[in-house]
Amino acid sequence: MTGLYDSFQRPINYLRISVTDRCNLRCVYCMPADGICQISHGDILTYEEICTIVKAAADLGISRVRLTGGEPLVRLGLADLVQLLVGLDTIDDVSLTTNGTLLGSYAPILKQAGLKRVNISLDTLRSDRFKAITRSSYDVADVLRGIDSAGSVGLSPVKINMVVMAGINDDEVIDFAAKTIGEGWHVRFIEFMPTAGIAYRTSHFVPVSEIKRRLEPLGELEPGLTQVGNGPARYFRFPGSRGTVGFISPVSEHFCFNCNRLRLTADGKLRPCLLSDAEVDLKQPMRSGISSSELKRLITAAVSSKPLRHRLAEGFLPGDRPMTQVGG
Ligand code: 5AD
Ligand code: SF4
Repeated sequence: MTGLYDSFQRPINYLRISVTDRCNLRCVYCMPADGICQISHGDILTYEEICTIVKAAADLGISRVRLTGGEPLVRLGLADLVQLLVGLDTIDDVSLTTNGTLLGSYAPILKQAGLKRVNISLDTLRSDRFKAITRSSYDVADVLRGIDSAGSVGLSPVKINMVVMAGINDDEVIDFAAKTIGEGWHVRFIEFMPTAGIAYRTSHFVPVSEIKRRLEPLGELEPGLTQVGNGPARYFRFPGSRGTVGFISPVSEHFCFNCNRLRLTADGKLRPCLLSDAEVDLKQPMRSGISSSELKRLITAAVSSKPLRHRLAEGFLPGDRPMTQVGG
């Protein structure tokens, strides 16, 4: 078998790279209320170090990368990193997950650098609510501008991620779904997950089955569409609509058995599973001058230690890093 496989024979071909733990928003489901203890600048991987890791990982079998944060666009010169990664002939696909607030100005330069597509996190279409959820002074109009800009420069598809929370934004699922019909948006509804440092109440949880039920007034969903990305979402479409509706159910129906990914934190730790605290440090060994084959050995070890599935149902909650350091 060529390629990279974990100890359960799952092919691992996708790396999510958190380029910074900093963010210009403070979303309630992601950022602890009192902020995070920020990683110091010297501990953040340089773009060259990220490239070294991606090259080694690509030699082993990684072919797709996604840049995340925090908010990746708050890191200076992100388009330079995109260009470096796009230039690697072993990498087929470079994408970005962003909160969209800065995309209005960055979309053209990202496209020019070779970025293919973006996922934009947006949890409400209402101005007052946007401020409450993101605990920021940005406006939902900034994100809508980002979405337009991404679409008009040809970053395609643009996918909108909505984390659905009962009593906070669940009354808007139908408005988001309507955008797949009216404006051709690709919307993905994500179940709210407990992550480190956030005040998680199970009363805020809405299962995908309930989200689907709320969408019934819009018509019957046609199943079975696939989309670029190959991730955990299941896609559907309302009859005649240009856009799609996706559902991501990490809690009610976990998709660990098809998991194909690794995560790299901004301070250089490989994390085999989003919902487990286990990590393999790459930064210190790299800064001590390890060889490329030793780096590959560390990556392979991280892949081999990937757990079969998360343990949320058994009550295990990851405790070490808030989502803003892992990148979703
Ligand atoms: N539950 C579900 N999704 C989350 N994200 C961040 N925190 C959570 C959480 N607690 C999502 C963001 C973003 C992606 C990177 O992860 O909305 O779209
Ligand atoms: Fe920032 Fe994204 Fe976390 Fe919101 S969810 S605070 S936009 S990193």
